[in-house]
Amino acid sequence: MNVEIDHEQLRSKPIGEIAAALPGATAIFRKFNLDFCCGGDIALGDATSKRGLEFSEVAQALAAIDPEGQTSAPTETEALIDHILSRYHETHRRELPELVRLARKVEKVHHLHPKAPHGLADLLEAMIGELEVHMKKEELILFPAMQRQGSGKFDAPITQMRHDHDDHGQYLRQIEKLTENFQLPDGACRTWQALYKGAEKLVDDLTEHVHLENNVLFPRFETKALG
Ligand SMILES: [Fe+2]
Ligand SMILES: [Fe+2]
Repeated sequence: MNVEIDHEQLRSKPIGEIAAALPGATAIFRKFNLDFCCGGDIALGDATSKRGLEFSEVAQALAAIDPEGQTSAPTETEALIDHILSRYHETHRRELPELVRLARKVEKVHHLHPKAPHGLADLLEAMIGELEVHMKKEELILFPAMQRQGSGKFDAPITQMRHDHDDHGQYLRQIEKLTENFQLPDGACRTWQALYKGAEKLVDDLTEHVHLENNVLFPRFETKALG
């Protein structure tokens, strides 16, 4: 490992702060099911004990990250916002409607199958609506103001965005529940496979998207940053 990590310091550090500072940490947190997005202000030590995890196991996994193999988002605010828009907002808009179509098909064709994800299409459709309204608020109001001013405080709109992100997180947890964490039944058809692969990618993408906003971008424009 190339990065020296002090276990005691790590234990008391907010998980979102670690995710923002250490490229590759988000993948480790996802693997251990630790919420670094909406629960990002909790110290890593508290987050691991809440999940019944061995702190040392998570700390060792973080220490083992190879910094060479990591790609990170741009650090400069304007470039970071452009990255969020092109890599995440556009991707959600492109991919989500197809997921709804796939979910409708699977629910219809396999409606008698005990493992069919009943309700997933409606859930995804509701999520598209809420996500669209949320992304528009960022694209038309908050992000241009951040890009125009480069600094300054936007506490009230950011609080609202963080609240929306909590709602997105609830949707993702429901998707995981409905799909039993994307476990395909034996002999699942191609459509079903494509649906779960796409839904898992949605969870990964939206988690990373919210992380970049909650833990990297927003603290630059808040009176009191995380931690
Ligand atoms: Fe966004
Ligand atoms: Fe957002």
